[in-house]
Amino acid sequence: MRSTPTSPPSSAVDLFADDTLIDPYPAYRELREQGPAVFMTAYDTWVLPRYEHVRSALGDHRRFSSERAVAHDDSVNDLMEDSVLASDPPQHDRLRAVLAEKLAPRALADLRAGIAEQADRLVASVVERGTFDAVRDLAEVFPVTVVADLLGLPEDARDTLLPLADAGFNVLGPMNQRARDALPLNGELFRYVATALASGNVRPDGWAAAVHRAGERGDIEPAQVVRLLVAYVVAGMDTTINAIGNTVEVFARNPGLFQEVRAERALVARAFEECLRLESPAQGFFRVTTEDLDIDGVRLPARAKVLLSFGSANRDERKWERADEFDMHRTPLDHVGFGYGVHVCAGLGLARLEARAVLGALVRRVSSVEPAGEPVRRLNNVIRGLSSLPVTVREHSA
Ligand code: HEM
Repeated sequence: MRSTPTSPPSSAVDLFADDTLIDPYPAYRELREQGPAVFMTAYDTWVLPRYEHVRSALGDHRRFSSERAVAHDDSVNDLMEDSVLASDPPQHDRLRAVLAEKLAPRALADLRAGIAEQADRLVASVVERGTFDAVRDLAEVFPVTVVADLLGLPEDARDTLLPLADAGFNVLGPMNQRARDALPLNGELFRYVATALASGNVRPDGWAAAVHRAGERGDIEPAQVVRLLVAYVVAGMDTTINAIGNTVEVFARNPGLFQEVRAERALVARAFEECLRLESPAQGFFRVTTEDLDIDGVRLPARAKVLLSFGSANRDERKWERADEFDMHRTPLDHVGFGYGVHVCAGLGLARLEARAVLGALVRRVSSVEPAGEPVRRLNNVIRGLSSLPVTVREHSA
């Protein structure tokens, strides 16, 4: 008897619509229930919503390629051609090697004390005010200051950089209005980085100088210099900003949890990691299949666009018990909030260092964090986070 081919799971959900971005979790759950791979009719694109398949796709760059594939739109993929994020080995490895030493544990160990001091100073200054905006005054300030400094950018770069970095992520989504509005800013981002980080403008010991030297030595093509710098500028800011903002929000909404962290400060790192799982700042990136694939019975053709949904994978009830609950006593280190495989976040050590410094300083200095108004959600095609989080803190009187 011939079996009749069944049609693959498909969904009309628009993961990039405002309503879904505000609360994507019901849509993710539905997609996970529909199957291991679901065709999204809104964008002629597949999505992998379950943890197991997202992680194995991340570990299989031969069949899930990043080359001209990380963005949904092909014109954006053209702009990113040959960048570290949008290339496969061996090209990818050459690009990634350029700053590997600067982000290695030994280099980070040298930065630790300075970053802790900087975080403590900033936290002291906002805590003194009693009520402040934990996103605008804290989360947005710190990573930008740290990364701008490491790259070799001037101190006043923040106001220019934030909207440009936001655009850098928006253009990675499908060409909806948000991505279209971001396109001109994305062009500006490239021009800004090319000028501000030109070889004559940067400190000789900074990251940008190291990238220029790699270009001069011929380790990478001259045309790849600015693309590589843009990748680090974009990747190093919004992700960490939102990771810190999201964790402070969890503290503000759960006073008991904050007290638990105060009592056992080692929990700061766990709370941050659990937040990366629960509210992943980078919700997903695209790939393209290089051959026909069978994903647990669902057939994907070669050259199919596939969204690897980190946000959904990190809430997969097949992987995590009580997946929708914040539980800092689990050890969620195998979450995919930092990705996995050859493209696993190049800055994860730095991100952890920064977050632990800021959150640690907050936990040391204040005895409570409470909401002081409604948080404002920021809508971005890739990034999940807040644009404003008013809080009131009580200074620790020890
Ligand atoms: C909590 C903060 C952060 C999160 C959640 C995060 C998340 C991610 C994710 C999910 C990827 C994988 C992309 C993919 O698979 O296509 C990635 C890659 C990357 N991240 Fe991060 N990131 C963070 C902080 C940083 C920082 C601080 C830097 C650098 C200063 C950085 C630099 C990069 C770079 C360069 C890549 C591309 C790596 C490659 O393609 O080989 N990230 N990040």
